[in-house]
Amino acid sequence: MNETRRDWLAKVTMGVGLVLGYGVFAAQGLLFLLPKRLKPKTRRLFVGPVDRYRVGQVASVYDLEGNEILVKRSEAGFVAYSSTCPHLGCKVHWMPDKREFFCPCHRGVFDADGVAISGPPADAKQDLFQVPLSVEGGVVYLDVVDTKRRKV
Ligand code: FES
Repeated sequence: MNETRRDWLAKVTMGVGLVLGYGVFAAQGLLFLLPKRLKPKTRRLFVGPVDRYRVGQVASVYDLEGNEILVKRSEAGFVAYSSTCPHLGCKVHWMPDKREFFCPCHRGVFDADGVAISGPPADAKQDLFQVPLSVEGGVVYLDVVDTKRRKV
């Protein structure tokens, strides 16, 4: 069998094409699958018009699973914190007279910016978890994990 240079070039071209084609297919498959597994789906949750929140106060709202989220409005804008204490998971409360968040389980104290300043959370440098929040068109939204749409 006499293989010409043209036949050899055709085989090499076809091989390179197959490798590239399957490689692109595999890469697209990974891009399609990996983000869903690595990043939980979030959902934009409407939590009311801006006017609902008064400057200097903290209001409670609830995510899709019924977890309380503390939305604080200050002169600088809005910020939201999970009410779950990062120490052992008790419920954190806003103390308006002291302008602090307080966890009664082990007397953990967080300042108005959610920074742990006393108790076990301060010892472990465990600040309150911030919940992503945005304000658009006079409306406040939270980005919360949507466990109903999350695939395992
Ligand atoms: S659970 Fe909040 S301080 Fe321990």
